[in-house]
Amino acid sequence: MRLVDLPRFPLATLPTPLDEAPRLGAELGGIRVLVKRDDLTGLALGGNKTRKLEYLLGDALQRGATTVLTEGPVQSNHCRQTAAAAARAGLRCVLVLSGSELAPPVQGNLLLDYLFGATVQVVRTREERAALLAAEARACAERGERPYVIPTGGSTAVGAAAYVQATLELVQQLVARNARPTALYVATSTSGGTHAGLVLGARLLGDPFRVIGVAVEEDGEAIRRRVAALANETAAVLGLAVRIEDREVVVDDRWVGPGYGSADERTVEAMVLAARTEGLVLDPVYTGKAMAALIGDARTGAFQPGETVVFWHTGGAPAVFAHAERLAPAFRGERPVER
Ligand SMILES: Cc1ncc(COP(=O)(O)O)c(C=O)c1O
Repeated sequence: MRLVDLPRFPLATLPTPLDEAPRLGAELGGIRVLVKRDDLTGLALGGNKTRKLEYLLGDALQRGATTVLTEGPVQSNHCRQTAAAAARAGLRCVLVLSGSELAPPVQGNLLLDYLFGATVQVVRTREERAALLAAEARACAERGERPYVIPTGGSTAVGAAAYVQATLELVQQLVARNARPTALYVATSTSGGTHAGLVLGARLLGDPFRVIGVAVEEDGEAIRRRVAALANETAAVLGLAVRIEDREVVVDDRWVGPGYGSADERTVEAMVLAARTEGLVLDPVYTGKAMAALIGDARTGAFQPGETVVFWHTGGAPAVFAHAERLAPAFRGERPVER
């Protein structure tokens, strides 16, 4: 199906701004940094999932769904945005979350999940989460509801198609201001839909820049394979004769730090630098790591002065509050942020 024919439920305020970040660029040796503000997509404190959910809920509504079900970690941005999107569409929302505590602190994204009226269940492991999600979907169907299950991160071909559209949006903005970036940085994961859509979108436009997916969890190779596979699946759904090879997908896995959900000093420093030069809120799980990669590359001479790079801000701000204990000392300057 052509991109323009995919059913779409309007949720996002588009186009998102493409902001200059001159003070950050000056700190990084005089490069030009452009920030694609998908933290401002407009739904429930913003983030990359809004774009995917436009297509996912479009699909759900076309199939007559009455209930959307999805899964993720306790502080999932995707789950928070799904809960809000379901509210907007008048659908019931069931979230199956996993984390080390069965009664996690109700704050950040989890607090908002409840605010949007989602039914929330918490389990310990990803395996239990997948099993419970399937059981919940069956129970919905038995009660006469029409369940629509959205996998982790909304990263289906339909969800990733949103980031093909988003690439077109970015390139239009770049053309309008005659900007020619050499690289684009975006946080990526084993869900991979954002990265896959951007890789496919860039390919369709002749690869105008390198799309650098910055891994937020271990196993860069698995992410690379997943992103290529999902990009190809998306191309097939959109009827495009394009093939992305695994080796063409760039995944930088040097910035993961202690693992998914944990920020090291480089990530915290990136959050502090972006905040204090540009007033940007990055998060410790995704965007802080992506910015740490951009900063690290700039400091090791990857770019010439005047060169343009794009930072794709994918949102995630509510998680900042859930990490207050770890972050507060660094923000208050009690502990130096190591370089
Ligand atoms: C703030 C943020 N950035 C990036 C990502 C990664 O996006 P994807 O699931 O498309 O790989 C997520 C996923 O939850 C996210 O919440």
